[in-house]
Amino acid sequence: MSVRKVKTAVIGCGMISSIYIRNLSRLFSVIDLAAVCNIHREGAEARAKEFGIPKAMTIDEAAADPEIELAVNLTPASAHYDVIKRMLLAGKHVYTEKMFTTDLEQSRELVALAAEKGLLLGVAPDTVLGAGIQTARYLIDTGMIGKVTSAQVCINRNQALNSEYFRFLRGPGGTLPYDVGIYYIGALLALLGSVTQITAFGNPAPMHEPQAAFLNEGAEPWQIPGLNTVAASLRFECGAVGSVLFDGNTVGAEQHGFTVYGTRGILKVGDPDKFGDPVTLILPENAPVQMPFTHGYDGKNMLGEPAPYDHYGHRGIGVAELAWALRKGRPHARLSGDYGLHCQEVLQGMDIAAETGKAYETLSRFEMKGLRPGYYSSMFNGAMRGDAEASLME
Ligand SMILES: NC(=O)c1ccc[n+]([C@@H]2O[C@H](COP(=O)([O-])OP(=O)(O)OC[C@H]3O[C@@H](n4cnc5c(N)ncnc54)[C@H](O)[C@@H]3O)[C@@H](O)[C@H]2O)c1
Repeated sequence: MSVRKVKTAVIGCGMISSIYIRNLSRLFSVIDLAAVCNIHREGAEARAKEFGIPKAMTIDEAAADPEIELAVNLTPASAHYDVIKRMLLAGKHVYTEKMFTTDLEQSRELVALAAEKGLLLGVAPDTVLGAGIQTARYLIDTGMIGKVTSAQVCINRNQALNSEYFRFLRGPGGTLPYDVGIYYIGALLALLGSVTQITAFGNPAPMHEPQAAFLNEGAEPWQIPGLNTVAASLRFECGAVGSVLFDGNTVGAEQHGFTVYGTRGILKVGDPDKFGDPVTLILPENAPVQMPFTHGYDGKNMLGEPAPYDHYGHRGIGVAELAWALRKGRPHARLSGDYGLHCQEVLQGMDIAAETGKAYETLSRFEMKGLRPGYYSSMFNGAMRGDAEASLME
């Protein structure tokens, strides 16, 4: 089968761009990574040279290039709204890293703009399309745990300490719920569907005295804005209830938790920040069983030579899934703008519920189709076996 590849430009050449550029240029037959762009041209030129990408461009050049069909936005969240709007107005389809934007109204506007212009808009995290979460989704959809009754997720970090190294965490969107909780909310929603009501309590981050002198010379103490520890209860449209705990004010020894309960069994889901953390099925009167993956893209390097950014896994599946929707003319049924908007509304709803002491009723809804099973994603005799990518086509 031959398919006209989707000419794609990556915008933003920072830390996460290495794995995207590597994967988009080599892993998916539907993508032609034609250009990389950055606010400073030198950054783009360096990445283009490093990965053998034909063109380094400015954003203006990418917007004006009629060949570029799809823009992959890897800029910091504070730049997302401007970059996405710019590309949509230039007639490009867009896939953006999380968070969608830093303001729900802006995200609503962008979803409406994409719809008005007949363009596809996709939103990370695409870890939810990885082997772990898709296997969990398949087990739920095929009735292995019966009807879902409830779920709980939790994650902890010392976010203020981390913000010494990652400076962008000191600004809006730097709290644990937005920086990391989004992977948990994204996966929870991918498994259980839309949330209708939220109640919550929360605490801000402490004022942080910098500890690493060589990184923070002369820096005054700072405080990450927003609620950095949140405990929330969610009611899902499917009838299930959920419990969420994000604690960014404790130590960095991560104790991640993700459990889905049903009328017939329980699923222990792996770390949703990874593509292939194990899924364990617990049925009464049986020992817990770690399930084989029913889907591909488990995050392991498929390309042979190890690279320093391998731990970022299969980032880029969401871009390929969007590109297949485009080429097949099918609905963009997974990481849609509606999904991104709902994830953002749930996180923001937790803040609002905690601040007002009242239940927050969500306005947005989304639908997400599970991927068709297809788990071969290995090299065979020098060529990539296509089952995993085939699962992204329909
Ligand atoms: N670093 C991670 O571990 C990680 C993981 C997953 C997702 N993300 C997300 O990916 C995005 C990028 O993260 P990062 O860690 O690579 O950030 P980064 O700060 O390392 O890189 C951002 C890049 O975007 C460029 N840039 C900034 N504004 C721009 C603009 N207006 N136009 C064009 N280029 C612009 C900067 O020059 C820089 O090269 C963020 O949304 C982040 O949340 C990061």
